[in-house]
Amino acid sequence: MDKKNIGLLFGGKSAEHEVSLMSARSVYEFADRSSYNIHPIAVDCEGNWLTRKESKNIIEDKELNKVPSRNTKLKNKGLNNFFENDYDVIFPLIHGPYGEDGKIQGFLELLEIPYVGANVLGSSIGMDKGIMKKLFDYNGLKQAEFITIKHFEENKLKKINNFVNRFGLPIFIKPANLGSSIGISKVSKKEDLKTAINDAFKYDKKIIVEKALKAREIECSVLGKNDFKASLPGEIIPSHDFYDYSSKYQDQQTKLIIPAELNEKLTKEIQKMAIKAFEIIDGEGLARVDFFLANNEIYINEINTIPGFTKYSMYPKLWDASGLSYSNLIDELIKIALVET
Ligand SMILES: Nc1ncnc2c1ncn2[C@@H]1O[C@H](COP(=O)(O)OP(=O)(O)O)[C@@H](O)[C@H]1O
Ligand SMILES: [Mg+2]
Repeated sequence: MDKKNIGLLFGGKSAEHEVSLMSARSVYEFADRSSYNIHPIAVDCEGNWLTRKESKNIIEDKELNKVPSRNTKLKNKGLNNFFENDYDVIFPLIHGPYGEDGKIQGFLELLEIPYVGANVLGSSIGMDKGIMKKLFDYNGLKQAEFITIKHFEENKLKKINNFVNRFGLPIFIKPANLGSSIGISKVSKKEDLKTAINDAFKYDKKIIVEKALKAREIECSVLGKNDFKASLPGEIIPSHDFYDYSSKYQDQQTKLIIPAELNEKLTKEIQKMAIKAFEIIDGEGLARVDFFLANNEIYINEINTIPGFTKYSMYPKLWDASGLSYSNLIDELIKIALVET
């Protein structure tokens, strides 16, 4: 059988650039080379696409934790470099805006190149916490009380104060379209509201205001197209008050407990809810679904359609614990990408 040519897209403009590079290195290292030629495709922090040779050097040079900045004067962002190869499947491993939100997926649809993961719609719903939460709500998935606020609305502070009067403090304030906890604040005092609102609006034109739950954080991996499987759930024990940027990526103190210590009933319920959430957003391929467990009740937090994907990230580790090794998981995702819908 001919080897398949897999384009491995990584880096990109989002704050999760470095995570993306680590995920891509892991796939590059562990993908089955008897079945695949892996072609790295690096995108720098300004969104410029690098050449085949540059990309290969970057992925192989483990000293580098960022894609070096390329000439920013390029009119077409170096997109022509992408066409140096023919690809059977693209594996997009760019997190956050411009990678996980449907834009790259749309580009690949235009080119009629199959790709790993959610389609345009699933990706964009998965990225927008406002739309995502409204759809979860509509479908009866339990979640923390929330409202969304757009930048052009008048009386923003009044609206939030009303929310606080109704549901109390603390609350979380988040940009609608981001990840990695960037722009997110936990507010415990009314006088801190303004700063938190301004912070969140720095990153997006829409924000989410949400009741803070005192809860355990549980995550579950979903895989499939047309027919979906859920992994055993895992638990995150953040090193800080909440799972913020530094507890995600900087200090090494956050613990992943795999599988999570849960009774069978809760495990089943979480798996069922994870698949339901995946279906609700029109998921395909993969997603990590994140939950809160408070007073024995499961609340959905969010879904990530391009979750961290190093060999040591939650998504692959949950599959490993469920009997699917990292290399086989990569295999499975590529196979799924080639299934016609
Ligand atoms: N309603 C909430 N109650 C308790 N903790 C929350 C809540 N919302 C967010 N958090 C904390 O903030 C972290 C990041 O929030 P999340 O909505 O998952 O954003 P991101 O997409 O950046 O991961 C969560 O993992 C959790 O630790
Ligand atoms: Mg999260």
